[in-house]
Amino acid sequence: MKRIIAPSVLSADFGHLERDIKMLDRSQAEWVHVDVMDGVFVPNISFGFPLMKPMRKATNKVLDVHLMITAPEKYVTRFVEAGADYVTFHYEATDNIAECIDLIRKAGAKVGISIKPGTEPQVLDEWIDKIDLILVMSVEPGFGGQKFMPSAIDKCAYLDKVKRERGLHDVIIEVDGGISAANSRLLFDAGAEALVAGSSVFGAENPEQAIIDMLNS
Ligand code: DX5
Ligand code: ZN
Repeated sequence: MKRIIAPSVLSADFGHLERDIKMLDRSQAEWVHVDVMDGVFVPNISFGFPLMKPMRKATNKVLDVHLMITAPEKYVTRFVEAGADYVTFHYEATDNIAECIDLIRKAGAKVGISIKPGTEPQVLDEWIDKIDLILVMSVEPGFGGQKFMPSAIDKCAYLDKVKRERGLHDVIIEVDGGISAANSRLLFDAGAEALVAGSSVFGAENPEQAIIDMLNS
């Protein structure tokens, strides 16, 4: 099974964004996680299209865009055009899931669906064979630096079981929120293949080592 670390730019120093992304570019992290918040779907606002450009310029790594916005169908195409490799939208944010999937694919990116801590993974049974990634939130979306919710582990185990039963080996299970080397092993063991980490990477004295520690956990 794959082990991918996706450091979240939300915890980077926006005054030195290029420097921080270049650090990730040198690191063992394969993906760069980009958290977009609209102040409606979540009670916080982060950034939008203008910041995607310098990020895309600073790295060739996979840009893993996590949209915490309402009506994502209105914007997914523009995020692909801005350089996203994966575009993940929230199950709870739209009534037009099929349309979102279609728009992201047509624009040329991979498709992810995310579920909040209160959403059961069974809601994805009908979508899992149509997407590339499932993002399980292990905190309430909106802020970095929150405490990991262990219910995400059971969700990974459930989704991993569904993947195996249905032969959907290429669908990546990703987990986001409160992750560090203290819990990364548990998640990899439960079937997660990609882990998002914000504060545990950018808050570390040696961020590149923090990434290695999670990979080796
Ligand atoms: C939360 C974001 C996360 C967050 C992770 O809404 O989706 O990606 O930045 O940060 P940590 O690792 O600090 O929980
Ligand atoms: Zn995220």
